[in-house]
Parts: sequence; structure tokens; C-alpha cells
Amino acid sequence: MNKLDMAGRSAIVTGGASGIGLAIAQRLALSGANVAIWDMNDQSLADAARAISGGKVHTVKVDVTKVDQVEAAFASTVKMFGKVDAMANSAGVAGQNATVIDYPVDEWLRVFDINMNGVFYCCRTAGKHMKDNGYGRIVNIASIAGKEGNPNASAYSASKAAVIGFTKSLGKELAKDGVTVNCVTPAAVKTPIFDQVAQYHIDFMLSKIPMGRFGLVEEIAAMVSWLCTEDCSFTTGAVFDLSGGRATY
Ligand SMILES: NC(=O)c1ccc[n+]([C@@H]2O[C@H](COP(=O)([O-])OP(=O)(O)OC[C@H]3O[C@@H](n4cnc5c(N)ncnc54)[C@H](O)[C@@H]3O)[C@@H](O)[C@H]2O)c1
Repeated sequence: MNKLDMAGRSAIVTGGASGIGLAIAQRLALSGANVAIWDMNDQSLADAARAISGGKVHTVKVDVTKVDQVEAAFASTVKMFGKVDAMANSAGVAGQNATVIDYPVDEWLRVFDINMNGVFYCCRTAGKHMKDNGYGRIVNIASIAGKEGNPNASAYSASKAAVIGFTKSLGKELAKDGVTVNCVTPAAVKTPIFDQVAQYHIDFMLSKIPMGRFGLVEEIAAMVSWLCTEDCSFTTGAVFDLSGGRATY
């Protein structure tokens, strides 16, 4: 594992109690950062905090679809660490597998509320703080589905495409403020999110990966964590591939 320098930095990881978010939180803490893990579930937050070593860990129970909760969680994190230098937005859901014609409207709205609106609330809150501080790193976890559009996953694919467009907008808005905003587009990575996905869809996602295997949470965390460091200084509004060769652009 390469050594990244996050000494003296503090970071927030949403969805940090599980899967990719937990791996990002671990890697940032091992790199010397103080890390706030934001998630919805008390028990998984406590388990995650025990699993992380390195910097200080602060857990916050928050539903990212509620802007007031996001703002309160941010205030609690600033109170704990004094400032926030980096934010990785990993909270997300897969949503039901169904064709567009059959897609339940409530489910569509739920997926967008978590995967896109939640990212907006978090970036809106963190972006202001980072702009005022003249420094910040934001990384949004989008998906290859947002670039390619997976069949039977339209809400997920469209919400992740929205995250990509949003990242490009915010990156340009903060480009002169010392704040970089990037996103990553992983292909399938075996995490608890697979429990939300039909087996035929998991098989489909694996079949599309030229490397012939799922990504590892550590592989996603490595790139995201680098994007959270000071070294990521001339890259913003960008989309980073993590797809085992699936992405063609
Ligand atoms: N695993 C994959 O194959 C894959 C591929 C591409 C992108 N992604 C994206 O990576 C991110 C992390 O996924 P994962 O695989 O680690 O899934 P996961 O289910 O292991 O973790 C997601 C976390 O988000 C939290 N969460 C969900 N809704 C929330 C809300 N409203 N408020 C706060 N927290 C909430 C969950 O409690 C959970 O801890 C997601 O955005 C997902 O779309 C995953």
C-alpha cells in the first residue's frame, strides 16, 4: 500500500459504515486523517468505528436525504475536528431492478433522493465551508452505470449520471477557491449493496468487466483517498474510471 499524506487533515465519509465508504474511511485514517463517518445505522457506525485505526474517528448518525440533518452533522464534525478538509460522498443505494416501463415511481424518487439529492445537500454544506477556508477536496462516488446506463437499473444509472454532471458543475464553480471536486465511476464491487440487487443483474455487471472480476473496496479507496490529498491540486470536475477496463471513455 502506498503511503498517502493526510496528516493534520480531517475528512467526512458519508455511507462510511459499510463497503466502499468504510474502506475509504480506513484508508484516510491510516493516512493520518481524522475521519467522521456519517451513516444511518447506529450499530454499523459503532462497528465501523472499532474497525478503523490511525486518526481520530467521529461517528454521526445522519440521513443524507434530510438537509437539516446534514447541516447538523457538519456542524458536529467541525466542532469535533475544527475544520473539514475533505469529503467523500459514498452513501447510496442500488434501487430495485425493473424495466423503466415497470419502474415504481416511489422507488425512483427514493433512489434519486439518496444518490443525488443527498450528494447535493452534502456538497452544498461542505462546499461553503471549504470555500471560506480556501481549501477542500470533495470526491463523489458515482458509477460506471452513470456513464453507460445499465438495463433494469434506470433509476440508479440516471442518478449516478446526475452525480457526474453535478460534480463537473461544482468543480468549475469552486475552481478558483482551492477546492477540487471529482468523482469516481466504479464497476461492480462486492459489498453489502449486492443484497439489494438481483443475481441476474450481478451476473450482467460481472460479464461486462474485461478483467473478469469484481473490483475490491481497497482499490476504490486507494483512488478516492488520493483524490482527497493535497497532491490532487490541478484536477477538478473530473471523472475517474475504476471499472477493470469496462469504460471506453
Ligand atoms: N458496490 C458496487 O458495486 C458499487 C459500484 C459503483 C458505485 N457504487 C457506489 O458506491 C457507494 C457505496 O456503495 P457500497 O457498495 O459501499 O454499498 P453499501 O450498501 O455497503 O454502503 C452504502 C452505505 O450508505 C449508507 N446509506 C444509505 N442511505 C443512506 C442515507 N440516506 N443516509 C446516510 N447513509 C446512507 C448505508 O447505510 C450504507 O452504510 C454507493 O454510492 C454506490 O452506489 C457501488
